[in-house]
Amino acid sequence: MYRAPRGTSDILPQEQAYWRYVEHRAVRLCELYGYQRIDTPAFEDLGLFSRSIGEGTDIVEKEMYTFEDKGGNQLTLRAEGTAPVCRAYLEHGMHNLPQPVKLYYVAPIFRYERPQAGRYREHYQFGCEALGDSAPALDAEVIDLAWQFFISLGLRRLTLKLNSIGCRQCRPEYLATLKSYYSGHIQKLCRDCKTRLKRNPLRLLDCKQPQCQAVADSAPKSSDYLCPDCEEHFSRLRGYLERLGLPFEVSHRLVRGLDYYTRTVFEIQPESEGAQSTLGGGGRYDDLISELGGRPTPAIGFATGMERIILNLKKQGVTVPALPRPRVFVAYVGDEARDEAVKLAARLRRVGISVIGAVGDKSLKAQLRQANNLAASYAVIIGDEEIKTGKVVLRDMATSEQETITVTQLLERLRSALG
Ligand code: HAM
Repeated sequence: MYRAPRGTSDILPQEQAYWRYVEHRAVRLCELYGYQRIDTPAFEDLGLFSRSIGEGTDIVEKEMYTFEDKGGNQLTLRAEGTAPVCRAYLEHGMHNLPQPVKLYYVAPIFRYERPQAGRYREHYQFGCEALGDSAPALDAEVIDLAWQFFISLGLRRLTLKLNSIGCRQCRPEYLATLKSYYSGHIQKLCRDCKTRLKRNPLRLLDCKQPQCQAVADSAPKSSDYLCPDCEEHFSRLRGYLERLGLPFEVSHRLVRGLDYYTRTVFEIQPESEGAQSTLGGGGRYDDLISELGGRPTPAIGFATGMERIILNLKKQGVTVPALPRPRVFVAYVGDEARDEAVKLAARLRRVGISVIGAVGDKSLKAQLRQANNLAASYAVIIGDEEIKTGKVVLRDMATSEQETITVTQLLERLRSALG
């Protein structure tokens, strides 16, 4: 027997109400904030991801699904959503549009990770990207959107963590100071951190090993090494967030796992801490579009994992609206009536009434049991007698009351009963 590949899952019908709920909120909020939907391909050139996310990151080093197609092209399944949006921005000359260009997506992401609760090899992300503006007010707007999204879903007890990791001008000095600090503590570090010290020192700060956390706690802070422009940006952003009443915490150990970030980085976490608990995160990536060959274009965005949101909705006991289901069941007795039932079901659907029609050769009793199991509010029954008189039987499934009425009356009754 085949099974879904490790780290992937089927989203079964009983789960779909959660997905619809989360996706609807996302779409509604994006419309409120002026974002337009973009869908990009499921795979891109390998180079787009390795260049954007960064060669020294876990995603590029260990997690990408890369393959050669029959034409010899090196392709990678979508490993994150930001680089494809930047590629599309450049490819379609979106710098000619009024800036910032605000785009959102809901798309599957593929990363070869060690699967566990909240961490999968295929997961879905809802993400937003605002491209073409460097104002800190835009950072505040994106963070506000992210925060309002989780709150409007009914999630509570969340933490909003914020940091600034500087820019091309000020980061080198910070990295040098960080490296020299960590070099003095090298014997206390885990094996991964010894490699990070050489390859990606910023990532030392978010190591989850207890012995490394103690070192990270006393490490130099990026916010103490910001150039005047980054300092001003960070201070104005904090001012806006305070004015918006967003309860952020500055966390100097917040650095994120992708290399393209500049200045603002942020994450939203639920109460239970842990590597795979982060609900969403994002930040500025002012150099990414120019690194991909465009003119300098500042930008900021965020993304969140749909599965993690749903896990937290369930954990916090948030109930979601049930998906609409047909409330009318059309039953029949006899062959001639079956043909009439097919026609009647179609007629009801044409006027917008959703219907389940009985199929097969079940007895009327079995058909009504089926209607009951499907939680239909009404059954419409057609038999030989009804065909002769041009009428049908309408049965109220809750009370078992039945009445014989014309099809015109039936349409009126169902329309007013079902709204
Ligand atoms: P990321 O932090 O890699 O950022 O992913 C964003 C969110 O996707 C995470 O906070 C988490 O909720 C979810 N997520 C990530 N990996 C997994 C996984 N293996 N299984 C389940 N959920 C996962 C980005 O991808 C950036 N592109 C975000 C961004 C947009 N930055 C600027 N714009």
